[in-house]
Amino acid sequence: MPAIVLVGAQWGDEGKGKVTDLLGSSVDYCVRYQGGNNAGHTVVVDGESYAVHLLPSGVITPGCVPVIGNGVVVDPAVLLDEIAMLEARGVSTDRLLISANAHLIAPYHATIDKVTERFLGKNQIGTTGRGIGPTYADKVNRVGVRVQDLFDPGILRQKVEGALDQKNHLLLKVYNRRAITVNEIVDGFLRYADALRPKVADTSAVLNSALDDNKVVLLEGAQATMLDVDHGTYPFVTSSNPTAGGACIGSGVGPTRIDRVVGVLKAYTTRVGAGPFPTELHDADGQHLRKVGGEYGVTTGRPRRCGWFDAVIAKYSTRINGFTDYFLTKLDVLSGFERVPICVAYDVDGVRHDEMPMTQTDFHHARPIFEYLDGWWEDISGCRSFEDLPKAAQAYMKRLEELIGAPVAGVGVGPGRDEVIAIRELVPAA
Ligand code: GDP
Ligand code: IMO
Ligand code: MG
Repeated sequence: MPAIVLVGAQWGDEGKGKVTDLLGSSVDYCVRYQGGNNAGHTVVVDGESYAVHLLPSGVITPGCVPVIGNGVVVDPAVLLDEIAMLEARGVSTDRLLISANAHLIAPYHATIDKVTERFLGKNQIGTTGRGIGPTYADKVNRVGVRVQDLFDPGILRQKVEGALDQKNHLLLKVYNRRAITVNEIVDGFLRYADALRPKVADTSAVLNSALDDNKVVLLEGAQATMLDVDHGTYPFVTSSNPTAGGACIGSGVGPTRIDRVVGVLKAYTTRVGAGPFPTELHDADGQHLRKVGGEYGVTTGRPRRCGWFDAVIAKYSTRINGFTDYFLTKLDVLSGFERVPICVAYDVDGVRHDEMPMTQTDFHHARPIFEYLDGWWEDISGCRSFEDLPKAAQAYMKRLEELIGAPVAGVGVGPGRDEVIAIRELVPAA
């Protein structure tokens, strides 16, 4: 059976958690392959809302094995809190597997994340402050600490010493903060070792043998294409690769085993944190989208910046990820507008761009060129087929489909598990 990759097509919060949950019952393994607890994925089941930050959204689905892949950065305190929170609500986490190769977020990573942002001043990224960037920096710089190091206290101490050596100079001399002792970090980490040990596995081996056994493996991206460190709006990005290629690296599943790549796409656009956003609205329409769409961050509670749908970005996202299908979410939020604009191209200093501009300077100067479609007023949350939708909503969806370069396999018309229009199966029949 194939592996399926699910990727956010915009700047995050497209509703990936909901789509994962929808696929959940047909999926045997649900894998996070990058990011950490900067993510916030909401799953609504029978009116009950669950927010997961570090665990894959598939943890909510009974029978699905949640896996934290090698590409994820793990804050062990957050992980154990999230496990406890779910267990207290009756969700079993017994099946959870964690890659021995995943890197650990230490308290000094969050400290450095926050002080770096403060020193950037008006150029700050608006990170979630969870230590994500500094942990990936240590990984690439080869001074990271991995989950497997928790089980070898001698090695753990050596690695923490190596990691703190430079950092303490930086913290003391540049940022004017107190030095961090090796003991406090090592002792802190070792407190989690016993609780984590039974869940730690060679997850690449587990996933590949599951695929050999005809199991369905869903590789669930956090963040999104435009936040990708290589393909997003650098430097206003996260420090990992949410795009489809990152799924292979972050899980140890090779590209030939991937059969489908599903883009999750909001019917309008949102962004949290700083960085360019051509279709951003600063008016009553933007406030309306925020209010009706509930556009407040699941992780930091920050109001999300809101704007119209941007087809240039969707088309770019299709190219970067090789999407085979799209799942369009939150179409219901667009009810109640006289007309609904779609950004079809950019004007960059007087020149029309139908594709994503090559440079960030041009992207910062991009002004949206809109096409205007008729709006609709009906509440569409009860629609369960394409034909149930008002004609204007049908036309909006069809126009998006023409512009974005891959077919729409499903449409979200509300946060609930059943509030969906299924158009084509995303998980191939066994
Ligand atoms: P993720 O980070 O991509 O998983 O998305 P978030 O959970 O951060 O944000 C998406 C929000 O939209 C959540 O509150 C979901 O419950 C909600 N949601 C998802 N799909 C739909 C939909 O089709 N309609 C509406 N109204 N809300 C949705
Ligand atoms: P989900 O998975 C939206 C943004 C932050 C900031 C930038 C870098 O819920 O879609 P970081 O803490 O990662 O170094 O911050 O990335 N960001 C997200 N925005 N949804 C997310 O996750 C995000 N995770 C990070 O706001 O602009
Ligand atoms: Mg989110």
